[in-house]
Amino acid sequence: MVDDVVVGPVNLAERVDEALSVQALAFGLSADEIGVRRHIVQRHLLNPGARALGATALDGRLVGFVYGMPNDRNHWWSTVVEPYLRTNGSDGWLDNTFVITELHVHPAFQGRGVGRRLITSITDGVEEPRSILSAIDTESPARLLYRSLGYEDLAEQVHFPSAALPYAVMGAPLPLRRL
Ligand SMILES: CC(C)(COP(=O)(O)OP(=O)(O)OC[C@H]1O[C@@H](n2cnc3c(N)ncnc32)[C@H](O)[C@@H]1OP(=O)(O)O)[C@@H](O)C(=O)NCCC(=O)NCCS
Repeated sequence: MVDDVVVGPVNLAERVDEALSVQALAFGLSADEIGVRRHIVQRHLLNPGARALGATALDGRLVGFVYGMPNDRNHWWSTVVEPYLRTNGSDGWLDNTFVITELHVHPAFQGRGVGRRLITSITDGVEEPRSILSAIDTESPARLLYRSLGYEDLAEQVHFPSAALPYAVMGAPLPLRRL
């Protein structure tokens, strides 16, 4: 547990440029992608039930964020993953579920429990009984974090049209597992 980083609600629509700077450092985003993402994030945050939390350093700097929303089968993300989940009968996970859309922590603040606090805090506040997300289909720190929280693979080798690498779709019952 770190006490020099505060996790709490932030106005992510207003702080989208700060958030995308964190995402660019944590995940890698080109300048073109940042421009595209800015509009996508702002549109996402208008969805009913959308929530965002930030991790703020003592100097007020945003050093991590998470946001998500209740799934809607008409959303682009859901329409991409749905055929993959349908092949093994797990597409019921797309109903009554909270989607973690983005989770990123500034590299200088990683490995200190901030990511875990962000995702457990945001899901603790939702009404849905489960959560779903996609992560690059490799044993990354993100994937290990998700597994430790109870997320299990629902589909692997999921191809998003715009992404170079395949993703895995993972789902977990809420509340997320504590260590
Ligand atoms: C994934 C991410 C958000 C995790 O945030 P974080 O603050 O570093 O994570 P935490 O310190 O809370 O660690 C939680 C768990 O993640 C895993 N983890 C974190 N860093 C790790 C590393 N370098 N190697 C292996 N596992 C790691 C561990 O399971 C860890 O649990 P533990 O502390 O009990 O060992 C952060 O690594 C990140 O921003 N990565 C790049 C962006 C990204 O991949 N986002 C997710 C997109 S799907």
